Amino acid sequence: MKFFLDTADIAEIRDLAATGLVDGVTTNPSLAAKTGRPMTEIIAEICALVEGPISAEVLATDTAGMLREAEVLRAIAPNVAIKVPLTFDGLKACRVLADEGVKVNVTLCFSPVQALLAAKAGAAFVSPFVGRLDDIGHDGMGLIADIVEIFHNYPQYGTEVLVASARHVHHVLEAARLAADVITMPPAILRQMIKHPLTDSGIAAFLKDAEKAGLSIPPRA
Ligand code: G3P
Repeated sequence: MKFFLDTADIAEIRDLAATGLVDGVTTNPSLAAKTGRPMTEIIAEICALVEGPISAEVLATDTAGMLREAEVLRAIAPNVAIKVPLTFDGLKACRVLADEGVKVNVTLCFSPVQALLAAKAGAAFVSPFVGRLDDIGHDGMGLIADIVEIFHNYPQYGTEVLVASARHVHHVLEAARLAADVITMPPAILRQMIKHPLTDSGIAAFLKDAEKAGLSIPPRA
């Protein structure tokens, strides 16, 4: 399962990428806006930090505008993936870009049939937003189950299910159970996944015993 970071925070990306656990990064206009810096500059920095696909989202809502912006974003680095919204115009842009060999992440997916359209349009990734569905009382992970099942029936598309809008560690666990290809998560979720109180208390007990017995590991001669 691939782990992407859902952030434009350079310091967080640098710190977490050092673990070797980060396979890619997703950004969106809201995340880019939070940095207060030019979007192209941030994307370039992220592309230099993480090898995997870095999703950069278009702002235009018409196909021609999306394709114009995609050209600018693609020129930043070879690992840029173009993020387009799941709309009529977004699907048309997806087809054009996919035919040119560009990785496209079709975002703002909220239904299984929308995901099927993204796959048929040649998307490398489709991003169903589980948290935003949960927020309105729908079943976010139920959507993932449906899409994984449908994509399993049509392996020829090769579109990866990218679980987006993750809110907590349980979303990661459920996504893994359902064999989703990728989950993108805010840095805080990845940090939370590492933690367990029994790990912390276990370390404390080991160190206490080692200190009592005067254990040490001397440097190599
Ligand atoms: O990047 C898309 C998605 O992950 C946004 O998440 O938390 O704004 O619903 P959120």
